[in-house]
Amino acid sequence: MMSNNVILFDTTLRDGEQALSASLTVKEKLQIALALERLGMDVIEAGFPVSSPGDFESVRTIAQTLKSARVCALSRAVDKDIDAAYEALKVAEAFRIHTFISTSTIHVEDKLKRSYDQVVEMAVAAVKRARRYTDDVEFSCEDAGRTPIDNLCRMVEAAIDAGASTVNIPDTVGYTLPNEFGGIIETLFNRVPNIDKAVISVHCHDDLGMSVANSMAAVQAGARQVEGTINGIGERAGNCALEEIAMIIKTRESFLGGLTTNVNHQEIHRTSKMVSQLCNMPVQPNKAIVGANAFSHSSGIHQDGMLKNKNTYEIMTPESIGLNNKALNLTSRSGRAAVKSHMDAMGYTEGEYDLDVLYQDFLDLADRKGQVFDYDLEALMYFANVRDEDDFFKMNYLSVQSGSIMATTSIRLQCGEEERCEAAVGNGPVDALYQCIYRITGYEIVLDKFDLTAKGEGEDGLGQADIIANYKGCKYHGTGLATDIVEASGQALLHVINSIHRAERIAAIKHSNQQHQAHSQKEHNISSEQM
Ligand code: KIV
Ligand code: ZN
Repeated sequence: MMSNNVILFDTTLRDGEQALSASLTVKEKLQIALALERLGMDVIEAGFPVSSPGDFESVRTIAQTLKSARVCALSRAVDKDIDAAYEALKVAEAFRIHTFISTSTIHVEDKLKRSYDQVVEMAVAAVKRARRYTDDVEFSCEDAGRTPIDNLCRMVEAAIDAGASTVNIPDTVGYTLPNEFGGIIETLFNRVPNIDKAVISVHCHDDLGMSVANSMAAVQAGARQVEGTINGIGERAGNCALEEIAMIIKTRESFLGGLTTNVNHQEIHRTSKMVSQLCNMPVQPNKAIVGANAFSHSSGIHQDGMLKNKNTYEIMTPESIGLNNKALNLTSRSGRAAVKSHMDAMGYTEGEYDLDVLYQDFLDLADRKGQVFDYDLEALMYFANVRDEDDFFKMNYLSVQSGSIMATTSIRLQCGEEERCEAAVGNGPVDALYQCIYRITGYEIVLDKFDLTAKGEGEDGLGQADIIANYKGCKYHGTGLATDIVEASGQALLHVINSIHRAERIAAIKHSNQQHQAHSQKEHNISSEQM
């Protein structure tokens, strides 16, 4: 009998990440992976190891750290990708290798330039190679939504025969309609003889805004794994939003014949916030489940109904996704215990933040701002978690003069052991500050994007600056948080410059080690020749 449990496969860190303007750091990916695990995601696709050393390292770190979720890595249907996926994953307690190849005629003929027979052969060989490393192998038929059904049936049967335990049917270009996509899944169940030997999965993109509806139609036709991302981030218009799938299955459980997921729904709101914050991808206010307006009632008629009986206009409560609008406040007289108890009430455990660091940041903020609200604490925590302790450049002092005159900024910047000063004028305070930082550090950065947002409420709230910076063709995301928006902007730029400086230091150490090794090898060869 078919299980009632729908497996959720999260690809925020792979499909989602590949669509961001700047890549996430290993530290940021790990933070998100831990949040996804707490949310109850069954499988977490952590990256595409062969694509870059950074991706390999993130998959390995996540595989090493997660306990209950199964960590997965992507590979094309070629040996070197599958081997790299295994090398990155092998430290995990349990892992999955995900391999894929295109199956639609346009992809097979124009992208792969092969015959369909050759593509089936490559898929079978890839699944068999992955099976050398694990029993948990997922095979995806890329662009399945546009694949002729006979070809799709043939490929699914061959992949299962070769040992795939999950077969994924992606609507890669978000082209199908719900009854059409549900029909494809139904046909596979009717026509593929060994279909009961694998879990059928779906992976829908949102180009026509139907990824969630298509995924649910597939579930109703028998699919038991849904792939997607938090907040629906991903290639182009994005992927299926998994928080929506989780809440549809919970809210319409009886209509759906008792389907369940392993999601801890109370974690939805803060996981969504974390993903949005670290990925620098704002959530539209009217987005289902996690948008800022998803639970607010504006019209008088609706508000009247809500006061009489909440069920008039509310099909699920904000509390059910962990959204508690308490916004309690603390002051500089509040102790560590009070800060900790507010964090407890918001659902954060001490392993997720360093109380000493948070308390110090809280005191600094309370001195400037008076009252500190729960949303301020949350912002301080996120910020502390992405901050690196070994930053080379740190702002010790900042003074700004601006108004109807040219803006002037002077700063003192800690550069390793030494403090350096600089002053500059600019067409605004941020421009002047950035000139000072460029001159002291020697880095000339091109800014692709600069955003300022208020965290929390009121004119005394924290300001967050996010920049996307381009340095020698690589993109970096920098973020800064302060009560002063010029200071937050400076922190964002220093965040980027410190990341570049750290990467250059590591590259220089590697280079000198390689030279040292080459030199030792040469000396060894010479002395062997002399003997
Ligand atoms: O959209 C897609 O087809 C994919 C595959 C790699 C699963 O992301
Ligand atoms: Zn995809």
